[in-house]
Amino acid sequence: MTVLIRRMTLEDVPAVHEIDTLSFSLPWPERSFRFELTENPVSRGWVAEVENRIAAMLVMWFIIDEAHVATIAVHPDFRRQGIGEQLLLYSLRSAQAEGARRAFLEVRAGNVAAQSMYKKYGFEVAGVRRGYYKDNNEDALLMNLEKFDSLEAE
Ligand SMILES: CC(C)(COP(=O)(O)OP(=O)(O)OC[C@H]1O[C@@H](n2cnc3c(N)ncnc32)[C@H](O)[C@@H]1OP(=O)(O)O)[C@@H](O)C(=O)NCCC(=O)NCCS
Repeated sequence: MTVLIRRMTLEDVPAVHEIDTLSFSLPWPERSFRFELTENPVSRGWVAEVENRIAAMLVMWFIIDEAHVATIAVHPDFRRQGIGEQLLLYSLRSAQAEGARRAFLEVRAGNVAAQSMYKKYGFEVAGVRRGYYKDNNEDALLMNLEKFDSLEAE
C-alpha cells in the first residue's frame, strides 16, 4: 500500500470533514477546516492519500517553537495499517524542520488507541484538563513530546 502524505488543500475539505465526523463526537464544522487553510497563519494541514482516497487528516498549529497537534484522524476503513503514525511523524518532522523544538496535544482520557500511538513516539502525560470535553465532561490528558530530536518509535 502506497501512502502519499501531502499538505491539505481546500479541495480535500469535504473528505477531511467526513473523516472528522466519522471519528469524533464533537467534530469541527466544515468551515473550520477552510478557516485553518486560508486564514490561520499558524496552521499546517496534512492529509494521507491512498489510491486517490483521503485516508487520514491532521491539523497542527505551529507557534514559535512549539507544535500543537490540533486534530488527527484516520478514516475507519484505513485504521491499524500504520497510516496514523506515518502522518503524525511526517508532520512532526516537518514542524521540526520549521524550527519546532517540542510538541504537545490533548487527548481524551478514555482514548487508549491514540494515547498508545503518542506514547510509541515518546509523548508523555504532562497534566490533566478536567472536564475538557463538553459532550460528556471527559478529562483531557495533556501530552508532551520533549525528545523532539530523536523522533523514533520507542
Ligand atoms: C488514533 C488513530 C489516529 C490511530 O491511527 P491508525 O492509523 O489506526 O494507527 P496506526 O495503525 O498508525 O497505529 C500506530 C500505533 O497506535 C496504537 N494504536 C492504534 N490503534 C490502536 C488500537 N485500536 N488499540 C490500541 N493501540 C492502537 C498502537 O500503538 C499502534 O502501534 P502498533 O501498530 O505498533 O501497535 C485512529 O485510531 C483514529 O483515527 N481514531 C479516531 C480519532 C482519534 O481518536 N484521534 C486522536 C485524537 S487525540
